[in-house]
Amino acid sequence: MNENPKPGPTPASPRRGFIQWLLGGLTALYAGCFAYPMIRFLRSGGAEEGGEKVTQITFGEGMKLKPGEFRMFKFGSKPGILIRHSEAEFSAFYASCTHLGCTVSYSHPDRLITCACHGGRYDPVSGKNVAGPPPKPLTPLKVEIATETLMIKV
Ligand code: FES
Repeated sequence: MNENPKPGPTPASPRRGFIQWLLGGLTALYAGCFAYPMIRFLRSGGAEEGGEKVTQITFGEGMKLKPGEFRMFKFGSKPGILIRHSEAEFSAFYASCTHLGCTVSYSHPDRLITCACHGGRYDPVSGKNVAGPPPKPLTPLKVEIATETLMIKV
């Protein structure tokens, strides 16, 4: 009788099967972590949380700013920045840096909108990218002065 086993596939050990099952599960979980937010964003059609896209807000606090001051605000689910340049001159933008999306801020001494992540700089009146890696200007918002308040619009 031949004592040497025939060459060919060996039966899978229970440990190998468990490791393959575990790796498959981790791979599926990893793929889901990327797919879920993407699918959620695509299904929203750009709508804000709560289902409706925000196109206008009333921002009474903006009228309390002195020239040279700024305030951050929420425009739907996105951050916004409002800057008062003079008694009657304001500018507002979505406050997401056009480089990689960090939230920008305003530096009054430098008279620039700045991004702390990679040193991006923007003109505070036009929103134009003037230094650093941002590839394009900030997205502007319209500011209308109403009685005792400000309207900020798309
Ligand atoms: S995210 Fe603003 S400069 Fe990179």
